[in-house]
Amino acid sequence: MTIIAPSVLSLDYSKFENQMSDLHASKAQWLHFDVMDGHFVPNLTFGPDILKAFRKASHLFLDVHLMVEDPEFFSDVFMDAGAQMITFHTEALNHDSTHILALIKKIKGRGVQVGLSVKPKTPVEILFPYINEVDMFLIMSVEPGFGGQSFIPQSLEKISALRTLIDQSQSSALIEVDGGINSHTGSLCKQAGANVLVAGSYIFKDDIIAAVESLW
Ligand code: DX5
Ligand code: ZN
Repeated sequence: MTIIAPSVLSLDYSKFENQMSDLHASKAQWLHFDVMDGHFVPNLTFGPDILKAFRKASHLFLDVHLMVEDPEFFSDVFMDAGAQMITFHTEALNHDSTHILALIKKIKGRGVQVGLSVKPKTPVEILFPYINEVDMFLIMSVEPGFGGQSFIPQSLEKISALRTLIDQSQSSALIEVDGGINSHTGSLCKQAGANVLVAGSYIFKDDIIAAVESLW
């Protein structure tokens, strides 16, 4: 089963109600919410009050992707606001396993699911020690920061390597892929073993319901 997670970074906020109603009529199960702090990535997006508004306006699962320098602080802020999955980057904690494991434990301790992510230039092997620790791995298939970029093909090898290890380890972790996803790249990611597809510009550019359907 593939989970489609539209990235609300690309939602047209001047048409919020119409676009939310299309999302609710589509096969999307999650909302992907990109938090950027202007430091970890050169862009600035949403604070917790906007997540609270999505919680009121939608029943969809709230998948929060933290692209911030201080995930230890912001994880609490966004869990308080209603996040159901918190994904943070190993780079933000300098790949330090003590800090990574402590943050995983803190998030799980609040009954929220936890994901771990790597940027395109970080080797996928960095994720391997956490194969049985997290609910999801997020492979970034563009440099994080902006929607509308092209898919980096080497991401497929990362997904395959992770899929092999997850299956060997009898882990139930999901593999999410984020960046440059359309019906073509989405299908390649599914073949490589991904089960959650994030898509922003592709879903919101025209017919939302048809675009979600084409990723399914
Ligand atoms: C990029 C974000 C993505 C972004 C994807 O830093 O993490 O979630 O919205 O946008 P598209 O699908 O347009 O590449
Ligand atoms: Zn994202």
